[in-house]
Amino acid sequence: MRKKIIAGNWKMNLNAQDVKLLVEQILSKMPVLDAQHQVIFAPSYLYLTEVAALCQGKDFIHVAAQNCHHENGGAYTGEVSPVMLKSAGITHVILGHSERRAYNHEDAKLLSQKTNAALAQGLQVIFCCGEPLEIRDAGTQNNYVGQQIMDSLFHLSESELQNICIAYEPIWAIGTGRTASAAQAQEMHAHIRQLIAGKYGATIADQMTLLYGGSCKGSNAAELFEGADVDGGLIGGAALVADDFLQIIAAMNASK
Ligand code: PGA
Repeated sequence: MRKKIIAGNWKMNLNAQDVKLLVEQILSKMPVLDAQHQVIFAPSYLYLTEVAALCQGKDFIHVAAQNCHHENGGAYTGEVSPVMLKSAGITHVILGHSERRAYNHEDAKLLSQKTNAALAQGLQVIFCCGEPLEIRDAGTQNNYVGQQIMDSLFHLSESELQNICIAYEPIWAIGTGRTASAAQAQEMHAHIRQLIAGKYGATIADQMTLLYGGSCKGSNAAELFEGADVDGGLIGGAALVADDFLQIIAAMNASK
């Protein structure tokens, strides 16, 4: 059965004390989730192992890196490889976030290499896609997002694809307070699932978890998660506040 996931992308936020406090606050009130529901924390590299240690014993919580390199090792100053993540007990990695595409010039080819490298280590990949405002205004968002997915993921085998979860994050909605409407999110998610079905078949498409990201918060999560193809969220700003994040988890739990 398809999993529902709430992932908190903390980006370059929180100092060492804040991280510990936030995790403790969330854990103190988090309900126990069943096998179909997961929560993922994506802190800076610096805090990955500490957060994993704080969450030990809670099988429904996982920890994700926000990026990884496409090589396993070598002379790449400042980088972190999938081998390093795996050996430190990290299970997930976010790839293709629009901020990395924009500020670090990560293109489709590099993202396909990163995806290969992460999957080769047995990491689960949260692959982000999403269109800028001018593409949305032109009405060509389905083609744009479809191309991002085809370019970086469609070389994968069926079994590899089963370790991918796709996060649709319209760039115009990230950190702007302007959320996609529930109908816009559902429409794109249905399009993505159809695209996956066309290439990999309906069963694999039906199993894939599709997350929405972009100004998702406690007050709009329930409505967004009503979409039949919206299986949770990749949360930025609201993941930094325990009560907001818990409200979003509650919305996932309540959704059908
Ligand atoms: P936001 O960020 O929730 O702050 O809009 C989402 C993301 O970038 O993953």
